[in-house]
Amino acid sequence: MGGVGQPIQWPAEAIWEAVAPLLPGFTVEVLPEIDSTNTELMRRARAGQLEPILLVAERQTAGRGRLGRTWSGATEGDNPSLTFSLGLPLAPPDWSGLSLAVGLAVVSSLHPDLRLKWPNDIWLQDRKMGGILIETVSVSEVRYAVIGVGINIGMPAKTDLRTAPAALRELLPDAQAPDVLGRLVLPLVRQVQLFASEGFAPLRPAYHARDLLYGREVVCSDGMTGTARGVDASGALLVHTAQGLKKISSAEVSVRPQADPRASSL
Ligand code: BTN
Repeated sequence: MGGVGQPIQWPAEAIWEAVAPLLPGFTVEVLPEIDSTNTELMRRARAGQLEPILLVAERQTAGRGRLGRTWSGATEGDNPSLTFSLGLPLAPPDWSGLSLAVGLAVVSSLHPDLRLKWPNDIWLQDRKMGGILIETVSVSEVRYAVIGVGINIGMPAKTDLRTAPAALRELLPDAQAPDVLGRLVLPLVRQVQLFASEGFAPLRPAYHARDLLYGREVVCSDGMTGTARGVDASGALLVHTAQGLKKISSAEVSVRPQADPRASSL
């Protein structure tokens, strides 16, 4: 990280050198401030800019999360975060499971203790540490995907989340946003390309090993409750309910773990 008044040193060139052979036309861009890296890449795609790009923002003024939620954060300051979006043309035979594949690439390249909470959250123990927002747009027969990732590097001071947040520095005390980005991007691009050619099914065992919800009682936003039983080959969440095994694949359904009855509050 840069000192006071120093620009932050991003490993843009190293990332470009590693990724450009996999993604012809790939560029890396770091902006000091933007409303949202996802919004910006969606705007550019609609304007016909369909080349693969990594867009990093040191500060988002209108960061967005899933289901219309907000996502705030800046690279510098007391509560640093990493916010970026990867934009690229993508044509998987089936899009289901992409956010799980992305989450898996993120946690696998950062720390063995990180878990995934279906469908798009990165959790540490029982708290949210990061999130993924995937959007797509079709322009001139090309489907362009914008894969946004936000990670708390330090602990956010205030949040509108229902659960307390977590930060990567709890696991990696020296973590800095530029180094974290440098670790993440190549595995992420490889994972997205694997997903585009083979879908989610080959990633299912690896997802299982990181599944925060497996075996836990969950409550869906439509009121359904049951026990999470992992995901199927398409990435749909399996929930064992009183009415039998249900598959949840709707992007409109969110799931939260019920409070652990074994946990004691002091
Ligand atoms: C969620 O938890 O609901 C998803 C959060 C995704 C946040 C990232 S930060 C980079 C990119 N730009 C955005 O506006 N959102 C994503």
